[in-house]
Amino acid sequence: MAENLLRASGLYHVYESQAEEGNVVALRGLSIALQDGEAVAVFGPSGAGKSTLLKTLGGLMKPSAGVVRLGGEDVTRMAPEQLVRHRRATVSFIFQEGNLLPHLSARDNVMQPLRHAGVPYREALVRVEEILEYLGIADRAHALPEQLSGGEAQRTAIARALITRPRLILADEPTGSVDPVTARSIMDLFSRLHKEQDVAFLIVTHSEMVSDFADRSLELQDGRFIAQHGDDIELEDLAQTRELLLGGDGQLTLTPDLLAELGGAGRYEVRDLRRHRLTLSRVSDERDTHCAACNTPFDDDGVQCAKCGAVRG
Ligand SMILES: Nc1ncnc2c1ncn2[C@@H]1O[C@H](COP(=O)(O)OP(=O)(O)OP(=O)(O)O)[C@@H](O)[C@H]1O
Ligand SMILES: [Mg+2]
Repeated sequence: MAENLLRASGLYHVYESQAEEGNVVALRGLSIALQDGEAVAVFGPSGAGKSTLLKTLGGLMKPSAGVVRLGGEDVTRMAPEQLVRHRRATVSFIFQEGNLLPHLSARDNVMQPLRHAGVPYREALVRVEEILEYLGIADRAHALPEQLSGGEAQRTAIARALITRPRLILADEPTGSVDPVTARSIMDLFSRLHKEQDVAFLIVTHSEMVSDFADRSLELQDGRFIAQHGDDIELEDLAQTRELLLGGDGQLTLTPDLLAELGGAGRYEVRDLRRHRLTLSRVSDERDTHCAACNTPFDDDGVQCAKCGAVRG
């Protein structure tokens, strides 16, 4: 079987900090696989770990634990120079900010990856002008990044990511700082690349337009995927169509609405467990009203004692 374009498993990432809040666990054992030519959207609240995930998947940051295989090779074990070469040949990034080199014009920023790849100057220039034209920024080609508007800078960054015709684009809110018309033209360009040239995308987004474009969407919360949503999914209308993801560490997280529908936190017993099937049943509706350890009353939907942290029976 052909290897996935991207396969990561058991990813953990901890940002170490001396500050009072201590270390931050940004990724908690998540796994993901992406086929060649597949478009996947990742969404979730601020701080969920989306940017951290993209950086570790693209080999820009080494995860604290876990393996990332990109284009069939383990990027967590590569020597730095080999990693740079492998990244350039496989993947392009579009970040939330800090995409452009400040001392280079928009045109030279876009041209830079082609120069690294050894494309002759004349050919590079033709390709750069074509893509700047397409993204409606040809008239800003000679401006420095600080002279560009947020939307123009974002389009320049997108042009730079696309110019090398990568197999995979990792994008962090690519339409976040542009107007709806520009957002639409960016998404049209992504769609064309996706459909006609089989470019794969992993896009972090809050935008409906982007998640419509994706083949599937993954919902990230608190450093792990909690749900997957298939084709033609409206972001508001997730409950009927969602799949839940069971992590490699055995953790299954329910979204608040699913938890409420199930009847809230409490004790469940395994009624039926076979290969690929699990049925749970609530043990009893009578839940402890007071903590067995310290006798503090529980909140209505509390799972743990607010005072001593004991788990509610
Ligand atoms: N360099 C860092 N040092 C310490 N903690 C960090 C660092 N970068 C991110 N974090 C923390 O890690 C967690 C995940 O951050 P991340 O940037 O991946 O979130 P995100 O989902 O991209 O959020 P947003 O939607 O706001 O961009 C957050 O709690 C954040 O505060
Ligand atoms: Mg982010």
